[in-house]
Amino acid sequence: MADRESGVGKRPRGAQVGGKVDWRGWKQERKAETKKWKEIKLLKKLDKQRMRELAEQEAQTQEEQKEDRGRPHTLSVALPGSILNNAQSPALRSYLAGQIARACAIFCVDEIVVFDEHGEDVKSVEGDFEGIGKKGKACVQLARILQYLECPQYLRKSFFPKHEDLQFAGLLNPLDSPHHMRMDEDSEYREGVVLDRPTKPGRGSFVNCGMRKEVQIDKQLNPGLRVTVRLKEPQNPEAKVRKGTVVSSQHPRAVSGLYWGYSVRLASCLSAVFSECPFKEGYDLSIGTSERGSSVDQVTLPSFRHALVVFGGLEGLESGVDVDPNLEVTDPSVLFDFYLNTCPSQGSRTIRTEEALLISLSALRPHIEEAVKTPKDS
Ligand SMILES: C[S@@+](CC[C@H](N)C(=O)[O-])C[C@H]1O[C@@H](n2cnc3c(N)ncnc32)[C@H](O)[C@@H]1O
Repeated sequence: MADRESGVGKRPRGAQVGGKVDWRGWKQERKAETKKWKEIKLLKKLDKQRMRELAEQEAQTQEEQKEDRGRPHTLSVALPGSILNNAQSPALRSYLAGQIARACAIFCVDEIVVFDEHGEDVKSVEGDFEGIGKKGKACVQLARILQYLECPQYLRKSFFPKHEDLQFAGLLNPLDSPHHMRMDEDSEYREGVVLDRPTKPGRGSFVNCGMRKEVQIDKQLNPGLRVTVRLKEPQNPEAKVRKGTVVSSQHPRAVSGLYWGYSVRLASCLSAVFSECPFKEGYDLSIGTSERGSSVDQVTLPSFRHALVVFGGLEGLESGVDVDPNLEVTDPSVLFDFYLNTCPSQGSRTIRTEEALLISLSALRPHIEEAVKTPKDS
């Protein structure tokens, strides 16, 4: 008998018939063993393939679940830059801008529109700085401080050269929002600046994302550009660079549901807040705020994709309506889907815009949450 335990290919020791070695039997046994061995190998291969397929499926499900975490809707806020003119000193002027930035970050505002409620020349939102503390130019200064605070600290040197508008901005309270990453913090996304560094042909640019290692992205981009990078899991922890892909700045919100700061837009008058909306489908929910509005408590907001909440300055929204050459109405309430008093029974004669911003966003939050429970298709 052939020794089955001894494995394939061994010479038959006991398989003898009439004193002779039974080569035929031995060959048949060997063939059977080889067949079995091949079958085992094939099964192992199939097993491996199945495991790989399962892992791929798992990764895809995880990716899809990640996609589900996305926030498709956006929240925009519009307010007049002139509110800076009510501040008593240059430092307080900056502090007021800082309060606006913090309120917007706290309530995950995606876009801040600074409009010129005095409807001055369009240049009033494009001109150069002419001295801190002076009246006028408030829109530009407010916009600049808002942008400065939104920019992660490690990128500010690249994007904000010294400017008098920002004289006190360094002292302002930071936003501390999710995209303001610390050096060793782990994150799927990071904001970065494209570096002026040569790269090999076919390879992407290097980006400073505020980490110890630079990130090599998937594209060649112009140096100095601000980019949002989705970081790949490091394959080799010893590697000198991290790898990443460039995504749109909307990606962290839309795909992963992260709050990723706000964009800032200047509008030369109240009507331009609407007409220059960056979303191609426009704002599909607009809310004006006023002590003369109806109570926020009873409101039911409809499902929306892009909501806009508008605030007035010292003289309310009426002031912006009066001077706007594109508006033929006098009553601001007709411009909005809802015109709301967000602090019924207020105990002070007037609520300042920066206070109204916090109060209103806080009062609207549960109504907005309710409205977006049923996503709007578009
Ligand atoms: C100083 S208040 C304007 C007060 C002005 N006398 C008026 O009659 O509207 C500045 C802005 O804060 C907001 N605001 C003030 N009180 C509010 C309230 N009770 N509800 C909602 N918004 C309010 C409005 O956007 C207003 O335009």
